[in-house]
Amino acid sequence: MSEMLIRGGKKLRGEVQVSGSKNAVLPILAASLLTNERILIKRVPDLEDVRTMLEILSSLNIETTFENGQIEIKAHSTCKNSVPYHLIRKMRASFNILGPLSVIHNEAGVPLPGGCSIGPRPVDLHLMGLNKLGFENRIEHGVVFTQRKEKPRSVTVDLPFPSVGATEQILSAAVKLTGTTTVINNAAKEPEIGQLIDFLTQMGARIRGKDTSTLMIEGVEELHGIEFEVIPDRMEAGTYMLAGLITNSAITVNGYISEHNQALTQELLKINAPIQINDDRVTTKERQETLKGTYIRADIYPYFPTDMQPQMTTLLTLSEGRSIVNDRVFPERNSHAEELRRLGAHAYARNQNIIIKGQKELQGAPVFATDLRCAAALILAGLAAKGETVVQEVDHIFRGYDRIVEKLRGLNADVALR
Ligand code: UD1
Repeated sequence: MSEMLIRGGKKLRGEVQVSGSKNAVLPILAASLLTNERILIKRVPDLEDVRTMLEILSSLNIETTFENGQIEIKAHSTCKNSVPYHLIRKMRASFNILGPLSVIHNEAGVPLPGGCSIGPRPVDLHLMGLNKLGFENRIEHGVVFTQRKEKPRSVTVDLPFPSVGATEQILSAAVKLTGTTTVINNAAKEPEIGQLIDFLTQMGARIRGKDTSTLMIEGVEELHGIEFEVIPDRMEAGTYMLAGLITNSAITVNGYISEHNQALTQELLKINAPIQINDDRVTTKERQETLKGTYIRADIYPYFPTDMQPQMTTLLTLSEGRSIVNDRVFPERNSHAEELRRLGAHAYARNQNIIIKGQKELQGAPVFATDLRCAAALILAGLAAKGETVVQEVDHIFRGYDRIVEKLRGLNADVALR
């Protein structure tokens, strides 16, 4: 594991380009299994998670290339129907291949995804959905085995809450169940789900209800190879915007889709953050007034994203007055609070809230990243803190931030990996 050395307290300047969305491209790569034809995916971020998904495709005997931000999935005649644990363990999103594999082979075996430091993340809804689609499943020695037992003509899946992964899993199986019409009620509506729907629709799937909580899918016999471009990553865009704000700098983030980031924009305007959005770019300015504390509730889309909660917590440690951060999606996502205290912040996790008392400055110190967004929060804190911050176990960041050292240096940040 490497660490990032940050000499903080410097102003940033210049522009940064947002890369393609991690959470969009991962389910797209899983769904690409649904055709044997060639697929070309553009604006792909170079991330550990993307590389893991490519390793999974390779373990299934599917050949891919990844060059200049483009992944080509070669045409192939067949693929295997099971994946080894060491690949699935690396990230939860890899479990998304279960649906497509089950549909193309009528049976499949995929290990349960590993644990997660932001709290328990079961897959019961994924399995319930596949079961409704006609696939019996059993778990043996940590592996989920599916077997197609029925071919129902009409299926209704009522999700108890709009799980992103379960919606994607069910969608990516239902599209290729010929003769079956599926309705998903209480489906997730994240922009990344919209991307998956666009991807599948261009391949020939029949899906109605995009951007709503009810999806209707008519299974088709064949899906086809396509070329497809991934949307910019809303979490990466938001993180760089916060980097500008937390260092009180004027920077421009290119690839900020305001429609995808409305909750974040609204919260920032509420705390007096000086931002200006023009088309698909956001500019931060030096502030005329202090940032104010606030109450943030992270919840399912379109509410404030849990994946921006730790970074926002960092900003609020430097905002005047008291703030409360409440994460309804991952209530245990709070390890960053303890690490922020090493930098002198007043941030305490209590009863599923993070309580923050804002102050004027942070001081550099060694800190420890426990997961991807915690790493992002600590890097932001390090950019603002006076003196040297060393973010240990920083490698988590490479799961979700494309070329981050290069991009931060391009913004005049003093950062180095060691
Ligand atoms: C996705 C995102 C992740 C984001 C999360 C919430 C990807 C690759 N990851 O994760 O970055 O933080 O959405 O916006 O897109 N749950 C169950 N049973 C299930 C499935 C989920 O209880 O079968 C629970 C989870 O434990 C969690 C909550 O539902 O508490 C949200 O999970 P879900 O919406 O499925 O998120 P992910 O798809 O895992």
